[in-house]
Amino acid sequence: SHNLTVRELADLLNTPETDIIKSLFFKGIAVNITQSLELETARAVAEELGVKVETPEIKSAAAKETEMLDAADLDNLQTRPPVVTIMGHVDHGKTTLLDSIRQSKVAQGEAGGITQHIGAYHVDIEHNGNQQQIVFLDTPGHEAFTAMRARGTRVTDIAILVVAADDGVQPQTREAISHAKAAEVPIIVAINKIDKPESNPERIKQELTELGLVAEDWGGDTIMVPVSALKGENLDNLLEMILLVAEIEELSANPDRLAKGTVIESNLDRARGPVATLLVQNGTLRVGDNIVAGSVFGKIRAMVGDRGNKVEAATPSFAVEVLGLNDVPEAGDEFDVYPTEKEARVVAEARAEQQRDSRLQQAMSSRRITLSSLS
Ligand code: GTP
Ligand code: MG
Repeated sequence: SHNLTVRELADLLNTPETDIIKSLFFKGIAVNITQSLELETARAVAEELGVKVETPEIKSAAAKETEMLDAADLDNLQTRPPVVTIMGHVDHGKTTLLDSIRQSKVAQGEAGGITQHIGAYHVDIEHNGNQQQIVFLDTPGHEAFTAMRARGTRVTDIAILVVAADDGVQPQTREAISHAKAAEVPIIVAINKIDKPESNPERIKQELTELGLVAEDWGGDTIMVPVSALKGENLDNLLEMILLVAEIEELSANPDRLAKGTVIESNLDRARGPVATLLVQNGTLRVGDNIVAGSVFGKIRAMVGDRGNKVEAATPSFAVEVLGLNDVPEAGDEFDVYPTEKEARVVAEARAEQQRDSRLQQAMSSRRITLSSLS
């Protein structure tokens, strides 16, 4: 392996050399343009500037799960709850399913807890004699997948494909399957509306077989659970299957480091300022942390959970609403925590500058196209 100079790294990252020098300066490393950097240092700088560095030496299946883990995390991995997205055709029962899971499970939790819309729900489940959790994302499945594909990250571990047993496979069913397959996310099929007399689960299995999803009782390996979201029928079985798949996937992360993850939702609240729901995918996020999300930054002033509860620390797979950002980040942006406020500010400002540059470049190139098409 060889070292990179600051200039080579700048070229590689398509970044001004000054940004790299600045970033190193805040790590306590003073360098000039021609100086060589160790690969580890170069990697750290690149990641701070928002560039993902491939780590081919990471072979563990667990590490592949999120692309959020570094080599250093591998010694400290702990099981984390699965993050689940619900997908399916219009009116097949996605919202009803999520609502009825939430009602049956969340209501058993803190009495009187007011559920708050934060874009994700945590559900507690008794499984194999111990308490386990599942996190459901409340973003439309296709949006979550589009954001993921655009940024190359994986925000969901398991996709629940809802297919109404009285309607069968429809265009968005096919689309959901191809999204999940492209992202290599395991699919569990919920054959819904089985309470309807005209429902025909076997016909659904037949149709799905033609799309490459073969039910276990048909000799395949796709878990298919007949449910009625409306009547709450067989939901426990569906939840069990989610935990089973999660176990097989060996989902893990390192809670003992600064947090990183993805922005799930964001908005500007009149009273509270910029608000963002963050999914923690590695590390632990805490009140007081210095955070960069896309090109915005801030010190976390408060965190709110899905039951309107105050949260001090959010461990991997948990979603929290955070206050204290200087602006509204975009859903799908990645976030990182930095040791100091200064570092967070430098990274965020460098990214904002990059975004302005690329917007300017785009504007200029589109102007060239306009001019040449006029001549
Ligand atoms: P979009 O968000 O519009 O894509 O729809 P959705 O997939 O979220 O479907 P939604 O949960 O809104 O359900 C659509 C309709 O189907 C509603 O009238 C539900 O009451 C009904 N429905 C959902 N699940 C069931 C079920 O298990 N049985 C019956 N009989 N009706 C159901
Ligand atoms: Mg809906």
